[in-house]
Amino acid sequence: MLTLGIETSCDETAVALVREGREVLADVVSTQIDIHRRWGGVVPELASRNHVMQLFPVMQEALSRAQVTLDAVDEIAVTSGPGLQGALLVGVQAAKSMALAKGRPLIGVNHLEGHLLAARLMAERPEPPFFGLVVSGGHTTLYEVAAFGQYRRLGTTRDDAAGEAYDKVARVLGLPYPGGVPIDQLAQNGDPKAHRFPRAMPAPDEVDWSFSGLKTAVLHHVQKHGAPQGQALADVCASFQEAVADSLTQKMINAVKRSSTKQVVMCGGVAANSRLRQLAQERCAENGLRLFLPSVKLCTDNGAMIAVAGYEAFRRGVTSPLSLDADPSWRLA
Ligand SMILES: Nc1ncnc2c1ncn2[C@@H]1O[C@H](COP(=O)(O)OP(=O)(O)OP(=O)(O)O)[C@@H](O)[C@H]1O
Ligand SMILES: [Mg+2]
Repeated sequence: MLTLGIETSCDETAVALVREGREVLADVVSTQIDIHRRWGGVVPELASRNHVMQLFPVMQEALSRAQVTLDAVDEIAVTSGPGLQGALLVGVQAAKSMALAKGRPLIGVNHLEGHLLAARLMAERPEPPFFGLVVSGGHTTLYEVAAFGQYRRLGTTRDDAAGEAYDKVARVLGLPYPGGVPIDQLAQNGDPKAHRFPRAMPAPDEVDWSFSGLKTAVLHHVQKHGAPQGQALADVCASFQEAVADSLTQKMINAVKRSSTKQVVMCGGVAANSRLRQLAQERCAENGLRLFLPSVKLCTDNGAMIAVAGYEAFRRGVTSPLSLDADPSWRLA
């Protein structure tokens, strides 16, 4: 079974070919970051127009790297939500056209299910039941995955997503968009104990996060002391990063260790963060939990994760009609 996975929910145009839901033959990602950076965030109209231009070249590149033609594809999976409406529609319309032309099944995939199932592409992969923390540009949510297709939301952020906090703090510090990578890099040379930024722990027993207070604390620091430079900037980045990694891992582990299920997946763009990866590994080990952490490439948006989620959906009999529409606010659970 060869699955074509298409992802256009935000600012990455991505296409992958995955065999039997685990062997990645090609995984091509074309990022639009340079187009959006000058605006300090993703401009929906520009995102859609660039998907229109990029999608078929990216697809041709994926087919060429996999050394197959479209005729070899057995099923077509596409992100149909959540995300930017116009951006999603480009991928959905292309997928529908190919499904119709080639007479192949079409599967609309939830982008967050894609992030969670990226872990299925690891050499040692999780089998349900497991927990999954999606930490990305738009989400910070812990799910319980009873089986493929059965997701229960245990907790989420009350305000900003972790990635959103990274991007907003980067802007306050005068760093480029998106802020995750520059802050992560600067933090390598900073002291995480230089500043004790707040870890909001709303209702200690609940699995909810909050990052707006942390973002405001960095803003107040800059307003009080001026924009940090050099070592001072590295220290602010490291201290901010420590606060994010601390609150994410602490709440995740508190929730998971109460259960008899001892497996947890961490995924989404922020799961590419070096300190978060390190702290999650340490704390999961200390608490007897098995952590599945996809590679950095599989944490950020890609088509392979959409192909895997589509493959698993098809195996349990789920397909989408050719009237499939984009659903910008599709909730996974
Ligand atoms: N090394 C890193 N450290 C911290 N954050 C990072 C890192 N790399 C990327 N990010 C953040 O990850 C986010 C992008 O992740 P992703 O592509 O999954 O988000 P998205 O697809 O836009 O949102 P969602 O998946 O919620 O729809 C951005 O906010 C970016 O700053
Ligand atoms: Mg994403």
